[in-house]
Amino acid sequence: MNKIPPFKRRFALSTCTSVAGLLPLFTGPLLAQDHARTSVPMAVTATSVSQTSNSTAAPTLDAEHPLSSVKGESKQEHDARMAWWREAKFGMFIHWGVYSAPAGYYHGKPVERAGEWIMNNAKIPVAEYQAFAKEFNPVCFDAAKFVAAAKSAGMKYIVITSKHHDGFAMFDTKASDWSIVRATPYGKDPLKEIAEECRKQGIKLGFYYSQAQDWNNGGSAAHGGHWDKAQDRNMDDYLDKIAIPQIKELLTNYGSGTPAVIWWDTPVEMNPQRSERIQRVVQSLLPGVIQNDRLNDGKEARLSRKGLYPGDTTTPEQFVPPQGFPGRDWETCMTMNGTWGFKKEDANWKSSETLIRNLCDIASKGGNYLLNVGPDSLGNIPEESLKRLSEIGNWMKVNGEAIYGSGPTPFDGLMGSFSPTERDKEGHPKFIPEWKWRATSKPGRIYLMVFDWPKDGAFQIPKTSRKFVSARLLADPTVKLSLLENDDGSGTILKGLPERAPDSSASVIVLEE
Ligand code: GLC
Repeated sequence: MNKIPPFKRRFALSTCTSVAGLLPLFTGPLLAQDHARTSVPMAVTATSVSQTSNSTAAPTLDAEHPLSSVKGESKQEHDARMAWWREAKFGMFIHWGVYSAPAGYYHGKPVERAGEWIMNNAKIPVAEYQAFAKEFNPVCFDAAKFVAAAKSAGMKYIVITSKHHDGFAMFDTKASDWSIVRATPYGKDPLKEIAEECRKQGIKLGFYYSQAQDWNNGGSAAHGGHWDKAQDRNMDDYLDKIAIPQIKELLTNYGSGTPAVIWWDTPVEMNPQRSERIQRVVQSLLPGVIQNDRLNDGKEARLSRKGLYPGDTTTPEQFVPPQGFPGRDWETCMTMNGTWGFKKEDANWKSSETLIRNLCDIASKGGNYLLNVGPDSLGNIPEESLKRLSEIGNWMKVNGEAIYGSGPTPFDGLMGSFSPTERDKEGHPKFIPEWKWRATSKPGRIYLMVFDWPKDGAFQIPKTSRKFVSARLLADPTVKLSLLENDDGSGTILKGLPERAPDSSASVIVLEE
């Protein structure tokens, strides 16, 4: 390992950044292309090996029997186990690893697509890739700042990459030398510090673990096949010597209640036997930890209730399903720019307005939002990400009540339409969302999250079986609003709204029953 001298740095990274002193609330103009790609529900989901988008799945309407990673679990037990996650609604994904050193460049040339896939995309030989570890020295890393950044956005949980497909362990592992502790000048375990900080700051911590792909430790699967002899080893041997021991370490070394989530990914070559071996370890060491649906290969296994390893959560990636997944727990994961792992030149940032509206959109369909940051090799979360997190946080401080612990909209109908001409990446008619308003619900209350503020002070509430007695603005409860039933029984009209929207991204009106 590390026989080849480190490459010269291709760019100078700036010094350490701080969470404090961020810019004030930014509400840029809404661009249609900013919004998440949306897709049509399908009968089965594509496995998540693609770097851009994958799972779309059919809503299986089976609310009485939710998908579960625990065999034989009752609905009550399942509800109790999922309770904190359903209340949380909003989490931070962190993709951080040695790939942040090349930051999207190989031999001075930009490499397309996601930054964390650079080794596979550029077919970098193992020894050469491992030299990047010498350039990975996150001296600016401060666990307190990472956790504070998530909290500043109103996020309630973090899921961090403990090992991505490049096999680099971001934690202290005895199973391999290919880790932040043994292969980098940094030499410490950041997950330990993050786990402690999460506990201190009262936020849940989950671990992403790439169980099948590992391009450095050898033997494991590689999407598209191996490209270096050093990768040729037996998959079961890799599971015995690397994946299973590391999973055990992750499940036992980080204190009680951690990880709260295990986030599997790209189950290339994960047959039922291999999945079962991992599952036995998980259930014996941390029974009931929340798991996503990406452990086992095979669309049916992952997506139908008959499947062997359906997990607890369905994971649409980079898009918001038009109808959500009724009866299931699901979580859209999404990047703020175009990459998960840090890329120096990816400036394709979504606006805070888009991110806030995505959060409303997802909550209105009953899902969670796992929004990604990709720290650089010095351990800084990019300023552009911090700025957006704080802007979302400003919105959440006033309007979070509409999101946390909310249920889906009580109103019928799609908030958008399927294009008669355009197709999505899977070849289905593309769903074009309409960005006027969304709703969430709680017992006795409905929250209208309005994007397109009415100019005449009146908002037409569609027909629902629920009866409202009063309405108020979350941003200003002193404004007097009135409710009038339409004569023709088509719904209710809300009057008295101020001329200017209280918030240009989304203004929330609470309807009380
Ligand atoms: C994908 C990619 C990956 C990313 C992940 C996030 O499947 O392989 O790089 O970590 O999904 O959902």
